[in-house]
Amino acid sequence: MKSHEKRGQWSSNIGFIIASAGSAVGLGNLWKFPYMAGNNGGSGFVLIYLVMVMVLGFTLVLAEMTLGRYAKASPVGAFSKINKKLGFIGGLGILSSSLILSYYGVLGGWILGYIGEYIVGAPSLDISSLAGQADAATAVSKEFFDQFISSPVVPVLCQFLFMLATTLIVIRGISGGIEKASRIFMPALFILFIIVMVRSITLPGAMEGIKFFLYPDFSKISFSVVISALGQVFFSLSLAMGINITYGSYLTKESHLERNSVYVPFIDTLIALMAGLTILPAVFAFGTEPTQGPSLIFVTLPAVFLSMPLGNLFALLFFFLVFFAAITSAVALLEVPVSFIIDTFHIKRNRAVLLCSSILFLIGIPSALSFGPWQDMKIFGMSFFDFADFIPTYILLPVGGLLLSIAVGWIWGIDNAAKEISNHGQLPFRFKIVWGFAIKYIVPVSMVLIMVTSLK
Ligand code: TRP
Repeated sequence: MKSHEKRGQWSSNIGFIIASAGSAVGLGNLWKFPYMAGNNGGSGFVLIYLVMVMVLGFTLVLAEMTLGRYAKASPVGAFSKINKKLGFIGGLGILSSSLILSYYGVLGGWILGYIGEYIVGAPSLDISSLAGQADAATAVSKEFFDQFISSPVVPVLCQFLFMLATTLIVIRGISGGIEKASRIFMPALFILFIIVMVRSITLPGAMEGIKFFLYPDFSKISFSVVISALGQVFFSLSLAMGINITYGSYLTKESHLERNSVYVPFIDTLIALMAGLTILPAVFAFGTEPTQGPSLIFVTLPAVFLSMPLGNLFALLFFFLVFFAAITSAVALLEVPVSFIIDTFHIKRNRAVLLCSSILFLIGIPSALSFGPWQDMKIFGMSFFDFADFIPTYILLPVGGLLLSIAVGWIWGIDNAAKEISNHGQLPFRFKIVWGFAIKYIVPVSMVLIMVTSLK
């Protein structure tokens, strides 16, 4: 039986902005940006990043939102509306989002696991005896992490719980689920961030971390640094993954696309900068080196909390913050395949959600186990977890970005897009010429550069 439910819609424009910001603000902001900036030239890097967010981030967010609202369809339907043969581009985005969610669920599970540990008091971490001993605390923290992620049961259980929470939000639909959850989680994230940031900056020795983050060192900026900044802009703004198309498709025709696509990159960048000012001062005050990736927030920071007065409380606040960032991204990642399934097969939302989340939970299990029992299983020399990250980030994303810019800039064309962006002439489109130039030339060239550099 076919059921044609009414297509979901945001209850307000601000709800859309908050949800879109929620999709963008994720683990990429928290554990990648601060480290990258510090290691690659400090404020020099931040400056390059900002310029790229303004030129490429804004351009692509606007292109995707516009396409979504124009077509009022999932990514496949949206690209097909430009030209029947282009639907596959949306398919790439759906594949990327799905693969990312499969391992994001594992990370989300770890976060839940840590929250649980801190609530019960993390008895294995005895604060009093370790105060001030950076190496000892790091060793304890590392051992705890290694044990936690290598267990055959706990990570999968936690992953299940995280996926369940994501499912329960998405099942309630656009305004009643995703928008409502984002309206609670995003302000909560912001408030917690301020608290933890103030604590971190006021730790003795915090200045070193701020220096690491912001001290300009242009000699460290090379071509490959610029390319990795570009990659980070893409990952952080969730570009070329169908998210902005999907979320844009739930906008009303009156919404102001040009203005909306300035807010989202702005909020995402603000949070990335706050992450740098929170995480690095703490790490340096503690006297260790920052690391990149999961170990930064699951090993190094917990070690810092261990040796801090009221450390468990701040750890708990911090992991809640990370949880809010992760779940609003996971919700977005799940909505992409869900909207495709609903549009294509006309099945009810709850069924589509259960179908997608169960499949992605199952596909994620090998990633969850790849730190323990399935450690030795490799695909192309990578663990399942790394593979699920590598394919979307280094292959599907640049290819998708290139095809997106060609489809919008060259095939659909600037004038058609401008009609949609200006609501058929009712609103001004101030950046039309700049935007048109960026989407036709700057984006495709950048995508080719990313591809060439990452395949080397
Ligand atoms: N932007 C998210 C982050 O910074 C991660 C991400 C990449 C994402 N692609 C996405 C989130 C697509 C939602 C949808 O961590």
